[in-house]
Amino acid sequence: MSKILVTGGTGYIGSHTVVELQNSGYEVIIVDNLSNSSIDVLDGITSITGKKPAFEKIDCRDKQDLAGVFKKYSGIEAIIHFAASKAVGESVEKPLLYYRNNLVSVLNILELMGEQNACSLVFSSSCTVYGQPDVLPVTEDAPIKPATSPYGNTKQIAEEIIRDAIHADKRLKCIALRYFNPVGAHPSAAIGELPNGVPNNLIPFVTQTAIGIRDCLRVFGNDYDTPDGSAIRDYIWVTDLAKAHVIAVERLLANKNKKGIEFFNLGTGKGLSVLEILEVFEQVTGVEINRQIVARREGDVEKVWADPTFANKELGWKAETSTEKMLETAWKWEIALTAKRR
Ligand code: UD1
Repeated sequence: MSKILVTGGTGYIGSHTVVELQNSGYEVIIVDNLSNSSIDVLDGITSITGKKPAFEKIDCRDKQDLAGVFKKYSGIEAIIHFAASKAVGESVEKPLLYYRNNLVSVLNILELMGEQNACSLVFSSSCTVYGQPDVLPVTEDAPIKPATSPYGNTKQIAEEIIRDAIHADKRLKCIALRYFNPVGAHPSAAIGELPNGVPNNLIPFVTQTAIGIRDCLRVFGNDYDTPDGSAIRDYIWVTDLAKAHVIAVERLLANKNKKGIEFFNLGTGKGLSVLEILEVFEQVTGVEINRQIVARREGDVEKVWADPTFANKELGWKAETSTEKMLETAWKWEIALTAKRR
């Protein structure tokens, strides 16, 4: 079976993707520097799939170390590159760290792909490249807007770097997946999102408030031009998202990607406001979320949701999991985490 290198494979989306790859029969090699993840995630993956993935504690900014992985596991056919820093606020405070982390790794991987003749790349991109789109739902050919944070800029620049590299070396090919808002956890509650310190993202903050770690959820803004005034996003279940990566790898390895680089929106096509999410969470769990409406968060867009038609048609993939189920799995995971902490 094909060998797949997964950078950031102990992270949130990475770990769920490793599970789906293993379940589809791929041999997975994870590299991760564990800067924002835990080695225990490997046990979680193993408990689900029955197979421990190979793991190397390596920083993707170190090209020599990465080259060593290609040597050790000869015959790597494709790379899924998740490893990156992703906190929007932190990227404003530490822009150079974000440019170095998120771009040097891309340069190293592209160079190694050429040198090692491992020509297929699946790249983790983001709906952040669209900024606040003029037309909703947003399609892949919508204009790329100036980024509102260094984090967002790293995703835009990385897409451009990959495009240029592929233009210059026709052997290389890439599928860039533009994620909307991934949420939830594996149904087994063996893996899930593990925020470092105070969560930045909505769902881990909600579950931590529900379980009593946080006193109060701050709802950032109720004066947006949306039906209830809170901001709208397209929340997609992390396992649905993970499955799209397996399909993307298969497409690359089967040479069905004719364009060199392809972009796909990974979303459900449905937008939900922050207040709607809280309502569904309360319904599903029966737990009330203590909340406070505060000012808008800097850099947030008002509303964005995907037109996933291109991914539905070309990849034969669809995110079908209900919001209820996504939030149920997030809650089950938070309960499991709390039990482990005790
Ligand atoms: C952002 C990025 C996305 C990136 C992700 C990674 C943009 C436009 N989006 O997603 O590309 O992949 O971070 O971290 O840059 N909210 C609250 N209270 C909270 C937390 C969030 O009200 O405590 C609201 C936010 O204002 C937003 C929604 O919940 O409206 C979702 O926020 P979040 O989960 O942080 O994701 P994004 O900001 O959409």
